[in-house]
Amino acid sequence: MTDIQLTYKQQSIRPQPDETVLDCLLREGISVPHGCRAGACQSCAMILDSGGVDDDCQRGLSSAQREQGLFLSCLCHPTESLTFHPPSVEELWRRCRVIDRHWLTTDILRLRLNYSGSWRAGQYVTLSLDGQQSRCFSAANHSGSEAFLELHIRHYRNGVISAALAKTENTKPDILVSRPVGEGYIDPRSERHILCIAQGTGLAPARGFMQQLAMEHSTQAFTLVGLLQAKDESYWQYINAEVADSAWKTQLLLYKDQLPLQNLVEFLKSSVSDWRQQQVYLFGSELFIQQTQKICALQGASRQQIFQEAFLAAPL
Ligand code: FES
Repeated sequence: MTDIQLTYKQQSIRPQPDETVLDCLLREGISVPHGCRAGACQSCAMILDSGGVDDDCQRGLSSAQREQGLFLSCLCHPTESLTFHPPSVEELWRRCRVIDRHWLTTDILRLRLNYSGSWRAGQYVTLSLDGQQSRCFSAANHSGSEAFLELHIRHYRNGVISAALAKTENTKPDILVSRPVGEGYIDPRSERHILCIAQGTGLAPARGFMQQLAMEHSTQAFTLVGLLQAKDESYWQYINAEVADSAWKTQLLLYKDQLPLQNLVEFLKSSVSDWRQQQVYLFGSELFIQQTQKICALQGASRQQIFQEAFLAAPL
């Protein structure tokens, strides 16, 4: 490790053992964009000029980005000397404008952006206002169904991104949006029943699923269980509007302080008959994911058929 040297903008730094490239830059007081520090948001991407990185550091990047030499500095434990530079804004982000803002509850904001690319329901994008700080949000719609990207954003008073978006005027400023990523989408050719259990704004991807199933005239069975704080009940009305005349089953479990896990178990016992047929999607906080994953496994769900996406509990 002592022979390894990182060169960033003509500055040479020696990483410490077990340190990632991102940690090394930050320790040296070099300000670089970053968000999740877990390979999800892609805001810490760098472009290699020389040296090599493990494939794992390019996880989730497109083949064009990988060929270009992009890697995620938060995942990269250097094993040889590297020289790299930051991508330009245009190389990493698309500039989008807000075309509609609407408060679905007192603290859940619906944001519609003029994002012109395509994405799959269940994927997520990273949003940034300055290219420095960023946060991931799941798409709340299916790209084939509407000509905008819809996001549901919980407003945290201390959250840099959510507070800034809450104040943003309708058309300004530009919002930087990453390429959509994530593997949590549904396969319309699958015969499995879809069971989606979501907490709070984890309901956003579930709404996208429903739009996709409706658009594709899918006959897949779909069950949605939403766990919401009592104050967010109107959010459920908005999500549930997608159900319309479908045969889908939906269930709202409201709570104040504690998650109503016993009610969830009872609902699953009475509603899900064949767990081998279920494809399970869990969206919510890390604790919620841990608890619901255990519940579903105990009920009989195969771990291979459980997809989970934990959302950041802490504001950014
Ligand atoms: S900070 Fe590296 S991917 Fe989010």
